[in-house]
Amino acid sequence: MQKDTQKATRREFLKISGKVAGAAILSGLPGTHSQAASALPAVSAEKRVQIIRSIMKKAKAVVGPDFPIIIKINSDDIVPQGIQPDTFPFLAQEVVNTGVDALDISGNNPIVKDIEHIEDESYFFDGASRLDVNVPIILTGGNRSVSHMEKLLKTNEIEFLGVARPLIREPDLPKRWLLGTADDRATCISCNECFRAVMYGETAYCILDI
Ligand SMILES: Cc1cc2nc3c(=O)[nH]c(=O)nc-3n(C[C@H](O)[C@H](O)[C@H](O)COP(=O)(O)O)c2cc1C
Ligand code: SF4
Repeated sequence: MQKDTQKATRREFLKISGKVAGAAILSGLPGTHSQAASALPAVSAEKRVQIIRSIMKKAKAVVGPDFPIIIKINSDDIVPQGIQPDTFPFLAQEVVNTGVDALDISGNNPIVKDIEHIEDESYFFDGASRLDVNVPIILTGGNRSVSHMEKLLKTNEIEFLGVARPLIREPDLPKRWLLGTADDRATCISCNECFRAVMYGETAYCILDI
């Protein structure tokens, strides 16, 4: 984490991701399911974010107070006693209290397959839409259609949208969307084959059309 933080000063912001979101070790700590498994007594949300507070303190000491640190966090652990959209706002507030500059909302299964219909898109919206925090909210996961994304930005407190797999398939998509030369919907079919390459230590690539 310290190496990540030092490297981050060469970029424009630091994102603590894949460490608190998804199914990584840190992601289990803010939730309650890890405690249930170890039969420990219930611990307050404030204490559950202690490790994030400690990381934030060290990271801010390296990058300085004006350097934005974004945290990607699960809004839904999809396990009994884990973080769930209805209990997530309280935990998110505690995470914000640690000094993070923005929250990127994700979940325990961040890479959902087969997003075929508009109602399948933006699949962590439920957790994100319940937040009332004083830092920007980013929503990542299943953002596919410009029309749907614009509607989300106009009608909610969500300020930014994260897009991952569609950019593996079409890295120039944001530019073409801006120029109006791309279709409304990304052509990624959410098959997750690009993630398989990463599992084998390769650079991610889209398997369609090859
Ligand atoms: C090849 C690949 C690598 C990823 N690596 C990370 C990672 O290191 N950390 C992380 O938090 N999420 C990672 N993700 C998840 C994405 O950031 C994102 O949350 C997820 O793909 C859902 O967004 P999408 O529907 O736009 O793809 C990865 C996804 C893919 C496809
Ligand atoms: S392999 Fe291509 S189509 Fe499949 S999820 Fe990855 S980018 Fe999308």
